[in-house]
Amino acid sequence: MFRRCLITGAAGGIGRAIVSRLAQEGFAITAADLKPAQAESALDGVPGEGHRAIALDVSDEAAVKAAFADDAVDCVVAAAGILLFAPSGDRPALTDISLSDWELTQRINSTGTFLLLREYLRAATRSPVDDGRFVGFSSVAAQLGGYRSSAAYIASKGAVTSLIKAGAREAAALGITVNAVAPGLIDAPMLRQSLSPENDAAVSAAIPLGRIGTPADVAGSVAFLLGRDAGYITGSVIDVNGGYRMQ
Ligand SMILES: NC(=O)c1ccc[n+]([C@@H]2O[C@H](COP(=O)([O-])OP(=O)(O)OC[C@H]3O[C@@H](n4cnc5c(N)ncnc54)[C@H](O)[C@@H]3O)[C@@H](O)[C@H]2O)c1
Repeated sequence: MFRRCLITGAAGGIGRAIVSRLAQEGFAITAADLKPAQAESALDGVPGEGHRAIALDVSDEAAVKAAFADDAVDCVVAAAGILLFAPSGDRPALTDISLSDWELTQRINSTGTFLLLREYLRAATRSPVDDGRFVGFSSVAAQLGGYRSSAAYIASKGAVTSLIKAGAREAAALGITVNAVAPGLIDAPMLRQSLSPENDAAVSAAIPLGRIGTPADVAGSVAFLLGRDAGYITGSVIDVNGGYRMQ
């Protein structure tokens, strides 16, 4: 019998790589995104069976509840996220961030992760899962204060880091681990909002492993956290950053 994994942000650069990798690992994928047609396309050609795409706004409480009511979910990867830039296309200074942009960012990045974790744990309380796994998405920006993002984004990802620890403590009794990955600079659409390819070499020089990361690098770490070998890891944030930031 397959294990079902709900992946949010499945239409994104990193989400697609996670869909592909976890399908190869034998999971049945529920590919969830605000953009269901793109989530559907993320499933094109992936191996395995039982995959489906759904429209899901992670900031919509009723929709997140429904996602768990409709489906038996064994594992969750909460990769959906936003980074809002100024209309000029520039990284906004803290003094220029509107309250509505601040609130939208918290609502999707941190409240969305909370809703997914809450509903997953509620569902697992009703109907226990074996070797349950929840993987959230933080960011190196939350650890360093960020150079390319915004204060709203950085704060939202800091909240994910703390939520993961609180969730890990409470989920342990259900046999569920709760962790996060903290990607560094990853060649995916969010990074390309602030970095054009001609600057890759200069940026790579500041990364000990000498290159920008790939979505597949992140997907590999997520696959590890979902696997049996990671069964004794909980409350952790795994850095996937090429050494850009070391603890
Ligand atoms: N790319 C990077 O360098 C980088 C670095 C650190 C962390 N991250 C994090 O990794 C994750 C994926 O990033 P990415 O680069 O693939 O971004 P992306 O913009 O390519 O993908 C994000 C996806 O989330 C979806 N989404 C946005 N709001 C949503 C909502 N309310 N409900 C459901 N889906 C929603 C979007 O439609 C999109 O498909 C994000 O959480 C991001 O913060 C990325």
